Amino acid sequence: MSDSVNIAIDGPAGAGKSTVAKLVSEELGFLYIDTGAMYRTLTLAALRKNVNTLNEIELSHLLSTCHIQLLVDQKGSRVLLNEEDVTEDIRSTEVNQNVSLVSSYQSVREEMVERQRQLAIKTNSVLDGRDIGTYVLPNAQLKIFLTASVTERARRRHEEQLSKGMPSDYEQLKADIAKRDELDSTRAFAPLKKAEDAIEIDTTTLSISEVAQAITDLAKERTR
Ligand code: CDP
Ligand code: CDP
Repeated sequence: MSDSVNIAIDGPAGAGKSTVAKLVSEELGFLYIDTGAMYRTLTLAALRKNVNTLNEIELSHLLSTCHIQLLVDQKGSRVLLNEEDVTEDIRSTEVNQNVSLVSSYQSVREEMVERQRQLAIKTNSVLDGRDIGTYVLPNAQLKIFLTASVTERARRRHEEQLSKGMPSDYEQLKADIAKRDELDSTRAFAPLKKAEDAIEIDTTTLSISEVAQAITDLAKERTR
């Protein structure tokens, strides 16, 4: 049995999971574990090595060669693949368009989930993803399911890209997000789904700080 406190934040793309999870983890002094970044890193590795994303066995083998590290340091949250900083590269359109397929395979998920549990068991942590409350940590002390309308989620991503000086096509983003929602929630193994005991927060009209505050308050109540 783990003595650590775990907060699970699940929901679709652009619902605000990672932004809010980071704030909540900082406020509580918990580790932030971005599970989506892990699936994105494997996807990047597959694209770089021309591994066929339709081939589960090859992907599983590739994963066994990927040392994925999630770090927080003075540069912020960073993701390393075999010691190389891939924080920016894992957010590319190509990764966006392939990650849900790569994440759909049971053997890939089982290995990722094992790595996530090993991290969560050791330390108080906030994990965000799609299956944290339902599958990775069914006994998490607090489970949150964040949602927002697809137009608002695409708008947020669009603004985010533009603010970084990157090109952005709103309609393309919206189509990609809708496609990912569909794949993530209909896959056979550990799909995106609200856990029965999760608290759902519709963030469509809420600010980042309002959502973070609500979750921090709930966490403090639960772990008092
Ligand atoms: O940040 P965004 O919501 O766009 O995506 P992400 O959290 O980085 O996750 C990228 C993709 O990884 C998702 O669309 C899922 O296909 C997959 N994923 C998953 O299957 N299970 C998780 N626990 C986290 C992510
Ligand atoms: O991790 P996830 O894909 O769920 O979303 P995110 O990457 O945390 O948030 C996507 C974008 O929406 C970021 O640029 C956030 O700053 C923004 N956001 C927002 O405008 N209002 C919220 N309540 C939450 C996030």
